[in-house]
Amino acid sequence: MQTRTLAPDERGIAAAAQLIADGQLVAIPTETVYGLAGDARNGAAVARIFEAKGRPSFNPLIVHVADAQAAQTYGDWCDMADRLAQAFWPGPLTLVLPLRADAGLSPLVTAGQNSVALRAPAHPIARALLKASGAPLAAPSANLSGGISPTRPQHVAQGLSGRIAAILDGGPCEVGVESTIIALTGEPTLLRPGGLPIEAIEDALGARLALRSEDSAITAPGQMASHYAPNATMRLNAKHAREGETLLGFGGTPGAALDLSVSGDLIEAAAALFDHLHALDAGGASAIAVAPIPDHGLGRAINDRLRRAAAPKDH
Ligand code: TXA
Ligand code: MG
Repeated sequence: MQTRTLAPDERGIAAAAQLIADGQLVAIPTETVYGLAGDARNGAAVARIFEAKGRPSFNPLIVHVADAQAAQTYGDWCDMADRLAQAFWPGPLTLVLPLRADAGLSPLVTAGQNSVALRAPAHPIARALLKASGAPLAAPSANLSGGISPTRPQHVAQGLSGRIAAILDGGPCEVGVESTIIALTGEPTLLRPGGLPIEAIEDALGARLALRSEDSAITAPGQMASHYAPNATMRLNAKHAREGETLLGFGGTPGAALDLSVSGDLIEAAAALFDHLHALDAGGASAIAVAPIPDHGLGRAINDRLRRAAAPKDH
């Protein structure tokens, strides 16, 4: 894939909006760092984000929106969210809110959880693209997994050139570190220190923040298992279903109740993963057998999630 560089003018933004509408990825400037943006409602686009970054697992991503009104279509709003958004949006603050049932976001963007991270970025180019595309933009930092967050378009190109459709050139980022992340799913909790000082947030709330590391919030295996596991027991690498099992296929597995991708496409499979697990659960499956998934590219992230879902439940 040839990665285009788009100028931060009307034509460049229109071209970026068209790529987003087509499910492609565009690296965009924000005031914190460059983000790798795709339509958060489009499962294949979100899957491509993980593929382009070479992420071995699916972490939940921040969904970028124009303003508090747009945020309310995805997350359950509350007084504290209102106060913080009034004080600091647009800006380097991300709010984790309960996910609305009718949000319409790809479950891959929230990693199948029932909360969503939302941020209204301040950068004029990011705002122009949000307006032109009309899409909520899932955007992690635009670097290869494990790499350093990019604050210039050249950094993005070094890591992702040839892997994404375009880079929208907005020059260097002002803030240079990622947004501060606050969870408002219970008592207000700091998940990640970042571009907005904690003191300013505590002043606006008139309350102290509880502390929890983003890692323990998201990647503690126990928590992961309880978040992602379906009610059914799961057996992986199954060639066919045994008595009483419902088969989740890959690549057109014969006898599968659902198939992650009949054509064996890992991007399609990643986009379908959480949806299919939910659907089998809702259908009352008590035991799910999952066909083997190739362990390369996005297959590694799919297998990581499947192993967590199959882990013994801690509740
Ligand atoms: O400044 C930023 O925030 C940049 C720019 C591009 O906006 N974005 C960014 O995204 O840093 P990313 O994907 O690299 O970081 C997302 C962080 C992850 O550490 C993840 O754990 C947390 O947000 N996160 C996302 N959704 C969450 C959720 N539902 N609950 C808790 N944490 C969440
Ligand atoms: Mg990052």
